[in-house]
Amino acid sequence: MNIKSLIRQDLKGMKAYSSARDEFEGAASIFLDANENPNNNGVNRYPDPLQSSLKNRIRQWKKVSSDKIFLGNGSDECIDLLIRLFCTAGKDEVAAMAPSYGMYAVSSRINNCRLREILLNEDFTFPTKKIISESKGAKLLFLCSPNNPTGFSIPESDVVEVLEAHQGIVVIDEAYIDFSSQRSLLSLLSEFPNLVVCQTLSKAVGLAGIRLGMLFASEEIVAWLNKIKPPYNINQLTQEVALNYLEKIELVEKQTKEIIRERSKVTASLGQFPFIKKVFPSDANFILARIDEANDLYDYLLSKGIVVRNRSTQTLCENTLRFTIGTEEENNELINALSNYRK
Ligand SMILES: Cc1ncc(COP(=O)(O)O)c(C=O)c1O
Repeated sequence: MNIKSLIRQDLKGMKAYSSARDEFEGAASIFLDANENPNNNGVNRYPDPLQSSLKNRIRQWKKVSSDKIFLGNGSDECIDLLIRLFCTAGKDEVAAMAPSYGMYAVSSRINNCRLREILLNEDFTFPTKKIISESKGAKLLFLCSPNNPTGFSIPESDVVEVLEAHQGIVVIDEAYIDFSSQRSLLSLLSEFPNLVVCQTLSKAVGLAGIRLGMLFASEEIVAWLNKIKPPYNINQLTQEVALNYLEKIELVEKQTKEIIRERSKVTASLGQFPFIKKVFPSDANFILARIDEANDLYDYLLSKGIVVRNRSTQTLCENTLRFTIGTEEENNELINALSNYRK
């Protein structure tokens, strides 16, 4: 596939902004190039625009070379930049499965690109053939696995079928992959030049507050994203916190196992309440459930100080609530509150 032919035509001759820190090679000890305040307070200098130390750490962790890694201010920035890179406003279209993560629609709208929402099956399984036929001609196709808000993973063989058929970019959003029983599709990167995989430090890794999204793709796509990104999109504090935290990755693995254990417990408990009509099996750190009166239960839980996500207005999600898995104590409180509902 010719990736260059998919890039927005008007960007092709663009010269990227060249920041002060991009312009010299070698080592220096006196920096009089970037109009910073010279008094050292730890953050008086602009950060590394290409985050080379952090990418080096992520390279070791994910076994993907640094030139195939792009970092964004959250995955949300990666989603937005992908649309900007490939789609001409008012002309090109984006496709995404529905229901799914809301930012595919929001970013498409902001960039004035029409979004084709392709409905999942009623039971939230993945309609491979329909996805292939209805995404034809869309420059970008967003697939989310495990999917938010359904919690379902897309079988790898189905994604491969889509990757083989789609004549544009296929973005697999793996924000919840660490909770999944399926493996990441990172290993398919070298096979499919049209594959982009997005992951984030906001979920299992526990760093939602620092805003760091990771995008993995061909060197070519990553080089284009580097060209169009804001020069210092990942701030110094984020780079430092992420680097330090990734040294403690065993802690994350332990926490992830605990969350998965709690997910089984909460799934079983939710299934026992007569007002919960269906608990959807989840491969993520949340559980979607169909309730007889979702708005009423939502208000009741709020009155007990517990906030969950009401997904009832989403496509195919009438009368559903999404429960994030909390700590053991928080989950027990949730179940306790549910036990007292309508009593
Ligand atoms: C599927 C999915 N992708 C991406 C994100 C956003 O990730 P980030 O915090 O890295 O912007 C979310 C957040 O809820 C999500 O559910």
